[in-house]
Amino acid sequence: MSQSANNQAVILVADDESANREILAELLELEGYRTVPAADGSQALEVLRGRQVDLALLDVMMPGRTGFSVCHEAKSDPSTRLIPVVLVTGLNRSEDRIKGIESGADDFLGKPVDRAELLARVRSLLRLKQFTDELETAETVLCTLAISIEAKDPYTVGHCDRLSVYAEALGKRLGLSPEFQIALRRGGIVHDLGKVAVPEFILRKPGPLTPEERKIMEEHPVVGERICAPLKSFRHVLPIIRHHHEKLDGSGYPDGLKGNAIPLTARILSTVDIYDALTTDRPYRKALSRELAMTTLHDEAKRGWWDRDLIHEFEAVLDAPEAELLRATASH
Ligand SMILES: [Fe+2]
Repeated sequence: MSQSANNQAVILVADDESANREILAELLELEGYRTVPAADGSQALEVLRGRQVDLALLDVMMPGRTGFSVCHEAKSDPSTRLIPVVLVTGLNRSEDRIKGIESGADDFLGKPVDRAELLARVRSLLRLKQFTDELETAETVLCTLAISIEAKDPYTVGHCDRLSVYAEALGKRLGLSPEFQIALRRGGIVHDLGKVAVPEFILRKPGPLTPEERKIMEEHPVVGERICAPLKSFRHVLPIIRHHHEKLDGSGYPDGLKGNAIPLTARILSTVDIYDALTTDRPYRKALSRELAMTTLHDEAKRGWWDRDLIHEFEAVLDAPEAELLRATASH
């Protein structure tokens, strides 16, 4: 969270007229906020990308990049899209408002700026920003927890990161919408979160599990789903967590779903999950080569477990020129 304990939120004030910048900065600083000035649109974008900013006040008419353009850029970039933007404008025409809304602005202020109105808008948008920061923190906690569970097992270190990168790339190749691609990226990290409820001696047992141990192990998708369920932003991740151990012939768990009843995102995750498990060292065997892993996956697809089309698409992902980059990203 960027707002500090004494509520010193950082506000970007972008205006090409220095007198306007100074008035706004003075009003805000009197209320205890910190301000960062920008004299044009390009500078404003630089500040947004390079510093922790809690709110942006953007003059619409600036030379070079207008406030609309800065707002549009900021809202299209995942690293800045949650920063609330207020467009400050002398324009009152409805088409300018529409343009502002289309560029993703959260609010408008008319010129000359009224002090009470400015402070009311700033307060309410900063409150909103604090909520989104807290939500982000909750997501971060879950992801950190997932990675620390993974770290308990030396054989699976890095598995979640790779899965996350592979699953998102496969989702993109299949033309899934950005929200499902994000769900796949998150699902790659948190799919085994429910293992927090599985005793370590079961997790690390090198040999086959007893029926009782297996029963406990097979609860991890349901437990993981339960942990993540309160987070609204994880709604597309939940089916991935719950169904990542289903098999097409209905022999998987926890629900024994068959074929297309298994959500596509969960089938994507299981495809890359099995591939990654086969191509890394395990206590009971050495890592298989890519070719051998693919042969195994295809054999198991013939037995009715996996989705053959998804395996082909995943091979295409690995063959694509950007796969080198993919591997490099996944190994970090
Ligand atoms: Fe799992």
